[in-house]
Amino acid sequence: MRIGIIGAGQLGQMLGHAAHDLGMECIFVDPSDLPPAQECGEVLKAPFDDADALAHLARICDVVSYEFENVSVAALKSISDIVPVFPPPDALQHAQDRLAEKLLFQGLGIPIPGFYPVDGRADLDAAVAAVGLPMVLKTRRFGYDGKGQALIRNAADLDQAWDALGGAALIAEAWVQFDYEVSAIGARNQAGEIISFPLSQNQHVGGVLHSSRAPLEDEVLRQRAEGYLHRMLEKLEYVGVLALELFVANDQLLANEFAPRVHNSGHWTIEGAQPSQFTAHLLAITGAKLAAPNMRGFAGMLNLLGEIPNTARDLAIGTLHDYGKDPRPGRKLGHITVLADSAVERDQQMSKIEKIVNLLSVENVTQAQPEQAKPGKLAQK
Ligand SMILES: Nc1ncnc2c1ncn2[C@@H]1O[C@H](COP(=O)(O)OP(=O)(O)O)[C@@H](O)[C@H]1O
Ligand SMILES: [Mg+2]
Repeated sequence: MRIGIIGAGQLGQMLGHAAHDLGMECIFVDPSDLPPAQECGEVLKAPFDDADALAHLARICDVVSYEFENVSVAALKSISDIVPVFPPPDALQHAQDRLAEKLLFQGLGIPIPGFYPVDGRADLDAAVAAVGLPMVLKTRRFGYDGKGQALIRNAADLDQAWDALGGAALIAEAWVQFDYEVSAIGARNQAGEIISFPLSQNQHVGGVLHSSRAPLEDEVLRQRAEGYLHRMLEKLEYVGVLALELFVANDQLLANEFAPRVHNSGHWTIEGAQPSQFTAHLLAITGAKLAAPNMRGFAGMLNLLGEIPNTARDLAIGTLHDYGKDPRPGRKLGHITVLADSAVERDQQMSKIEKIVNLLSVENVTQAQPEQAKPGKLAQK
């Protein structure tokens, strides 16, 4: 079985390793020099929407997938009569536009924060009236890792936010005073079988994922989040892995966004679950049967941004994943996973690693972002 993957970044690399273990071959399309996934398969060096490269990929592969969201939907549709393309381009189209995404959630009865489309400066004032303050202004397209967003705390911030983002199609969202964030990750195959991973509890710093912990042991939340995930997988006639990001605020569970791909908040599954999200994605897109994941323990993941210090290489605990990327401030270069027999032990290991590697601890994170989770609430879960 040969899998074509558009994008050869770290997600492609992790898919490539999982494919190897399944006896599958991966071929990537990526314009960069020395992309992370080159160690797991041939890379066709071409722009992501290069018609010739994609047509070639379609002809030589049994199925084509993608590892990031800014792939051209038109380019994917153009090859879908030659080869199956999963996840379906229609799902990607919804994920690429925050307004289309919100309307999809609404149509499925999945609760979301208040929002208002902003196409001109006057809309921004209307948005304040509609959703209230604080609110966050986001570009509808191309945002990732908190980029393309401006927090508006009060009326004095409006002009600055408009200067920063005005001109692109925008959306304003109510700023949610959440207790914490979770993600629900699941997979569906063409036969309609669905599996889901235990909920992951996630902490972000400045809009970028800092750490994830699973399983979040809250049966009520799990069932509700899984219900939302199932609705999406079925509505989109989805094939592959999908990650749904949610806010937990008091007793409310609100959808933030979804990713039609394997997700950073599911990296703990490499050691922590059988199958991992990467294996599950490959099984789903190749028409294999899906079995519910078995947890191997209490899992955690810490992202390494900007640099991988030597202290991270010398750790006696945890498993380091180094994507082999050049260091650059804020860039995702790797992550560390831990696996333990209890949540307490897992959290102790993660705190220890945060100290040794000198990562920002969760306590510092929450203090640095008073707008978000209150210190203490995270610690309870
Ligand atoms: N409406 C919101 N209320 C509170 N926090 C938010 C809101 N939108 C985004 N955030 C914070 O910023 C992070 C990144 O925003 P997100 O919308 O997920 O964009 P990205 O595509 O960059 O991941 C979220 O995980 C959350 O921590
Ligand atoms: Mg996000």
